[in-house]
Amino acid sequence: MIIQPQIQGVVARSCHPMGCKAAIEEQISNAQQQKARTTDLPKNVLILGASSGFGLASRIALTFGPANASTIGVSFERGMSDKGIGSAGWYNNIFVKEAALEAGRTTSNIIGDAFSENTRQTVADAIRTQFGGKVDLVVYSLAAGLRPNPETGDFWRSSIKPVGESVEGYSIDFEKNSLNSVTLPPASKQEINDTVKVMGGEDWLSWMQFLAQNDLLAENGRTVAYSYIGPEHTHAIYHKGTLGLAKTHLHQTRHEIDTLLSPLHGQADIAVCKALVTKASVFIPGLTPYLLALYKVMKAKGLHEGCIEQMDRLFYRKWNDRADRDGEGLIRLDDWELQPDVQEEVDALLAQMTPENFTQISDYNGVLNDFLQLNGFGLSTVDYSKPVDIAKLKALAP
Ligand code: NAI
Repeated sequence: MIIQPQIQGVVARSCHPMGCKAAIEEQISNAQQQKARTTDLPKNVLILGASSGFGLASRIALTFGPANASTIGVSFERGMSDKGIGSAGWYNNIFVKEAALEAGRTTSNIIGDAFSENTRQTVADAIRTQFGGKVDLVVYSLAAGLRPNPETGDFWRSSIKPVGESVEGYSIDFEKNSLNSVTLPPASKQEINDTVKVMGGEDWLSWMQFLAQNDLLAENGRTVAYSYIGPEHTHAIYHKGTLGLAKTHLHQTRHEIDTLLSPLHGQADIAVCKALVTKASVFIPGLTPYLLALYKVMKAKGLHEGCIEQMDRLFYRKWNDRADRDGEGLIRLDDWELQPDVQEEVDALLAQMTPENFTQISDYNGVLNDFLQLNGFGLSTVDYSKPVDIAKLKALAP
């Protein structure tokens, strides 16, 4: 079967498994070139949200870089069915595990809802059997649209909206190659609260409490969650909007987790990452024009990083350097993004950007290509005219 990209707006309805494999191999080769500045690196790592974006890159950096870590990856992905080939994350899990086992690491994938009690118990069992009972790093990299409310059986749903007043902006459509005007109304109180429930720190804390109560955290055990702040230009839609309020809650939760980990001499961190094209971020209306301009400027300055370069820098440059934190104690991987010279040029580009000229003046091709590559398309090393062996793929399990 020949697999073609099927794009609807900012959603890919198909993925190319062999392209996912090739994209993973690129990230692995990147991680293998890293040199650690310290030997004090995590060995047994649990990654919540391991199948794409920053979680996947964390897993690859830690497995194939100098940490040589063993991992348990939790994600919510779907395999092949009558409805289609399955999700890119499904194949990412399969091929990361395959490569990790080949490299002699122990690795496992748990497919399930990270918010459910069932998944927690499965993870606890895996920590006991795979890690001998202790995990020394928990990476919290979930990007979810909803979270079940255990008390009502209903869901909290996150909204991506401004707070206080409406915001005008543009959204991208990768199917039509168009930039479309959007007006986002301000979020209601309920929408704000629900977004904090889904994307704030409550679930991170409850995972850490669960692991601590079950004696599954190692001495000096650490955890890190990923956040975004961004420049003034994006504050109305992000930092001061519903997602930003959820991230502020996440930042505050770090202190509670620090207290929880203190008997183990452990530590909780927030790594503030750079804006990048991921399955989750392309959904944020108003952010894509910024990404188009940012990619252009950072590439021209030789400062552009993808998820894997960010995670390499996190674990092999910043991780153990306690002095390398901002005034609030946050690890800043957005430092290059927020350089004044970068932001000045981004602002200038955004001021000129229109639906008519964006493909010429911005890095639209780079952003589109990143989006396609998330789904296994657009890789120069893959022959897309070659049929994919469906029976063989169907036999693979994560
Ligand atoms: P992503 O969409 O690429 O990855 C999300 C992961 O969460 C996937 O592995 C998915 O399977 C998993 N997931 C979602 N719901 C789940 C559930 N209910 N149970 C189990 N797994 C579930 O997203 P991305 O962009 O890598 O985001 C990860 C974190 O990084 C988020 O907290 C995000 O806010 C943060 N971040 C993202 C930035 C960006 O530009 N993409 C910038 C800075 C921070």
